[in-house]
Amino acid sequence: MISKQTIDKIFSTIRVEEIVGEYVQLKRAGSNFKGLSPFHEEKSPSFVVSPSKQIWKDFSTGKGGTAISFLMEIENFTYPEALRHAAKKYGIEIEEDQREFSEEAKIAQSERDLLYKIHEVANEFFQNILWEDGEGKAIGLSYFRERELKDDIIKKFQLGYSPEKKNAFTEFALEKGYTKEILEKSGLSIFPENSPAGLDRFRERVIFPIHSFSGRVLGFGARILRSNVKTAKYLNSPETEIYHKSNVLYGLNQSKQAISRKNVCLLVEGYMDVISLHLSGIENVVASSGTSLTTEQIKLIKRLTENVTILFDGDNAGIKASFRSIDMLLAEGVNIRVLLFPEGDDPDSFARKHPQEYVENFIENEATDFIDFKAEILLKDAGNDPIKKADAIRNIVKSVSFVQNALKKEIYLKEVSKKFQLSEQSLFNELDIQRQITDNQTQKTHQQKENTPVKMEIVPFDKEKEDPFLFDVLFMENKLIDHMLMFGDVVLKRTDGENTEYQITVIEEILHHFEEEHYGFLAKNNEIIINQIKEGIQNDELRSGSFFVTFMDEEITTKVVDALLPKDELENWASRNIYPPNYGDKVGDQVKGDILLHKYRYIDYLIKQAIAELENYRTSDESKYFELIKKITLLKQASMRLNDMIEYSPIKGIYLDKMR
Ligand code: CTP
Ligand code: MN
Repeated sequence: MISKQTIDKIFSTIRVEEIVGEYVQLKRAGSNFKGLSPFHEEKSPSFVVSPSKQIWKDFSTGKGGTAISFLMEIENFTYPEALRHAAKKYGIEIEEDQREFSEEAKIAQSERDLLYKIHEVANEFFQNILWEDGEGKAIGLSYFRERELKDDIIKKFQLGYSPEKKNAFTEFALEKGYTKEILEKSGLSIFPENSPAGLDRFRERVIFPIHSFSGRVLGFGARILRSNVKTAKYLNSPETEIYHKSNVLYGLNQSKQAISRKNVCLLVEGYMDVISLHLSGIENVVASSGTSLTTEQIKLIKRLTENVTILFDGDNAGIKASFRSIDMLLAEGVNIRVLLFPEGDDPDSFARKHPQEYVENFIENEATDFIDFKAEILLKDAGNDPIKKADAIRNIVKSVSFVQNALKKEIYLKEVSKKFQLSEQSLFNELDIQRQITDNQTQKTHQQKENTPVKMEIVPFDKEKEDPFLFDVLFMENKLIDHMLMFGDVVLKRTDGENTEYQITVIEEILHHFEEEHYGFLAKNNEIIINQIKEGIQNDELRSGSFFVTFMDEEITTKVVDALLPKDELENWASRNIYPPNYGDKVGDQVKGDILLHKYRYIDYLIKQAIAELENYRTSDESKYFELIKKITLLKQASMRLNDMIEYSPIKGIYLDKMR
């Protein structure tokens, strides 16, 4: 866990305009920056960054927050991933908070850190050899160039080379102070009894580092260059504490933005397929690296898109084995299309033969749905054998039975019926049988579904509309909360009943009002904010807007950003020599007036409630009835007093007219 101090340091060091600026072209607009939303196709900019408030707001999608939440949004990082990424960019050292870990967990954590570290070191080493070393350049780099890779692509994928010398890397790492033990655990070295100096796992191979979703090196794939050697073409890192083959997709880190922007993920088999497609400008692609797809891998893709196009080599022997991947994708709710390359081609060779547009059109136009794909392959095998043909159809219906969405399922089944000229009824019967089988299979995956956190409950908007009294109260409640967020730490000068001057912050004054009224909040979000503010006060801390933008709750952050960056910030008033009056100038009057209005409307609401209650007791409980009458009278008096105050106060001119 990242320590609180480190988190504070990260937030106080990083600049939202710098972090966002790496993804969005920002132009100055008054005190803000503006740009095109990276989350939404648009022609006129609706994306605003405020350097003074250190927040951003995307008015086209309604999203907004801090630099960290921007990274989470655009890179699909988790909170700690985003923090670590930002820390790295600004050279902030991460301090881990170890208090809540057991001794054992601490050791495991530091071992994991060491494993990450040694992979970073190895990655640097292999790249250095490739670019700087004579052997590396002559063999490794020239191999990549022969395969027509450009330097920027080689660097983008951090490709490297491991030299012929038996322990080149091991020696390098030992010299740097890494222990034999950690080198062995990483799978990068072995120490057999007859060679105490150690042996490198990868020798005389070009190196493909395998990255995590967020870009950490977890392991390597390494391709042999000599063709006369009788050993596997690719050698990969073994399973380690940080590398689990089934949880990783090659190229995901480099492709994730394009996948999410294009809203489709191309799935290929090999390292070179991913790299060649990137080279030709097609960047939404990942590889399963020769293994069959796992549920974990599908979940990684689903963080970005629900659409997958599987690309197969023309002469792929493993196509039938891929049927399982298709069923798994369908079971996870993914929409699949499949593309078979012409015989003799794989995505790599095809992409190098043709220009980008041609490849893109080919993928777009030639990819078929899984039914056509399976039908083509299975029927080719079946020939004229009716039994084999029936098997083929059953096999396709089986895939359909994995589809969870009922509507989609029906559409697919209709397609099968049309294609094979079979009655829908007989197919539905078959589907029923298949469903019983697959239900058993999928039950397990469904039980494992993580508990998603319950969304916060907010008073539904329509309900308030039905009750105009409640709506009015909520309107003012929101307004007071906005004041606390925007100007919470502004100090107001007030005079008390005896005409003595005193000072009070906006937060304290509004909080005092809520407490005096024993006010029950209508919106859950507001209550959460108030509770946080109270907790802050107990710790001598004024929790205002800047506190809440870093409060890790999406709804609250959005609410706060909305208050801090109102829509008219989109307008560049200054460029037109218009200077609207600063809202903050009259904070004292605003707060005072809005408290009165909130009180007034709240009392009106209480009166209305009490009157409704009255009917219940008119005949049944006389003392309760008169108690209520008394309450209503008192409330009405208070309401009238307030009405006078608001009526004859200059405040009314400012606020009441603006109200609705
Ligand atoms: N693979 C592997 N181990 C092997 C063979 C293959 O891990 N012994 C994985 C690699 O991820 C490889 C993918 O399966 O990229 C596809 O294998 P293959 O088609 O043989 O390799 P290509 O990617 O076509 O590699 P190249 O073009 O360099 O021959
Ligand atoms: Mn190949």
